[in-house]
Amino acid sequence: MTPAIDIQRAWRIYETAAGYTPALRGVTLTVARGEFLAIMGPSGSGKSTLMNILGCLDRPTSGTYRLEGIDVTELSEDDLAHVRASRLGFVFQSFNLLPRATVLRNVMLPLVYSDLPPRDRELAAWRALRSVGLPEEHYLHRSNELSGGQMQRVAIARALVNDPAIIFADEPTGNLDTATGEMVMGTFRRMQARGKTIVLITHDPEVAAWADRTVHIRDGKLFSDEEERRYLAGLAAREAAAEKGEGPGGASLSASASFSAGAGPAAAARRALLLGVPAL
Ligand SMILES: Nc1ncnc2c1ncn2[C@@H]1O[C@H](COP(=O)(O)OP(=O)(O)OP(=O)(O)O)[C@@H](O)[C@H]1O
Ligand SMILES: [Mg+2]
Repeated sequence: MTPAIDIQRAWRIYETAAGYTPALRGVTLTVARGEFLAIMGPSGSGKSTLMNILGCLDRPTSGTYRLEGIDVTELSEDDLAHVRASRLGFVFQSFNLLPRATVLRNVMLPLVYSDLPPRDRELAAWRALRSVGLPEEHYLHRSNELSGGQMQRVAIARALVNDPAIIFADEPTGNLDTATGEMVMGTFRRMQARGKTIVLITHDPEVAAWADRTVHIRDGKLFSDEEERRYLAGLAAREAAAEKGEGPGGASLSASASFSAGAGPAAAARRALLLGVPAL
């Protein structure tokens, strides 16, 4: 079976007044259908850039990307929008719900372009909400009347309502306490059990531990778990040697300390574009 995701030697070079920024430098990654993958990396390493490309919100400057066997680098903007609406679901750190709309209406939002009659849209939203375990008594509440964990489950239901093949989640537990975050991760696990492919970005190793596999990104390049462990062990060894030889102030071991839950530039605008709603 063709993989869900197959990206080869992808570069993404941003062009700004200040010059060129190579945010991805030759990324190669395949994700099998039904796999649950975590991507970890420090702030500015290229996580959101990669997610935007994998989610067909952006294109690589060079390289190839096949999504479920289809070369999406060749598709028009309209076709890409169709791929996003029909095959992909997105979950973000800040939930991105319409605060004054009801839970049900929020979940129905991605169906505005479908030709389903209103009753069927409502039914689909109802099913998606049930599948994430949100009690029915909340469906007619406004989304701003929910707890953070409930909001994130509504956001996951919204990502599921189109029955997508692949769900992308960018720091979905970043605004949640540990227990609530675990509940949300349990929801992703259940979605995987129902055949979804899940690609999750996180800076938290405990969250990444829910995935089948973790890859690491540093300076726009991907590394396997094994390669990352060797890199960190090398850093630690250099740090220890520096401390022995030169006292404090040697090479710093800041790789893990610099992980951050940043949201990346223009993220709110991109999410609004994606969801077809005004930036919140
Ligand atoms: N639209 C853009 N224009 C120019 N440079 C950009 C743009 N988006 C990202 N970059 C740069 O590309 C690099 C990777 O950014 P990206 O947002 O992918 O990082 P990230 O790993 O998601 O970080 P964070 O954890 O803070 O969200 C950074 O150097 C960033 O400044
Ligand atoms: Mg980011």
